[in-house]
Amino acid sequence: MKIFMDTGNVEEIEKFVDWGVVYGVTTNPSLIAKSGRIQEEVIPEIAAPVKGTVSAEVISTVCAGMVKEAEKLSKIVGNVVIKIPCIAEGLKAVRVLRGMCIKTNVTLVFSMGQALLAARAGATYVSPFIGRLDDIVEDWVKLVENIVKAFKIYGIETEVIAASIRNIEHVERVMLAGAQIATIPTKVLEAMIKHPLTDKGLEQFLADYGSTMK
Ligand code: E4P
Repeated sequence: MKIFMDTGNVEEIEKFVDWGVVYGVTTNPSLIAKSGRIQEEVIPEIAAPVKGTVSAEVISTVCAGMVKEAEKLSKIVGNVVIKIPCIAEGLKAVRVLRGMCIKTNVTLVFSMGQALLAARAGATYVSPFIGRLDDIVEDWVKLVENIVKAFKIYGIETEVIAASIRNIEHVERVMLAGAQIATIPTKVLEAMIKHPLTDKGLEQFLADYGSTMK
């Protein structure tokens, strides 16, 4: 499973790219707003350090508007992927953008049916929002498992990005469910490296090494 970062904060991305673990980034209008900057300005900075793709979301809710925004965004940097909401106009836009060789990430996916429609419209990625399903006590693990399984059965190449991740359990369970990608917020990535036994073990090794130096 590849790791994407779910943030609009350039410093945070640079930190984890330095760790060598981040392949791509996803943003959305809320995350860009949090950065206090505008999308056109921040996307090139986000895209520069990452090897993989950066998803940037459209604001329009009609096909023609989405396509226009997508064309504009894809001129900013080469590795941008256009995030399109899972609505009927969005599916139309995905089909048009596919014809223009512009990659898409269909977002706000909450069901198998939505995932199938997005894939058949030609989406490069689909993003089931597992945290928001967990919030309303829906079976988010089963959703990811089922989408991955069904895409495999039918030879669908669309990749699954597990999104809306809130904690380490979400990461571990979507990894087992077979998601190709998890897009992870900074605080969860920071928590993933930590284990008290690692700290304790390291402390002991250093102390024992120190004792041999006397
Ligand atoms: C990423 O593609 C999504 O926009 C993001 O993960 C949504 O997360 P949230 O449910 O915490 O807002």
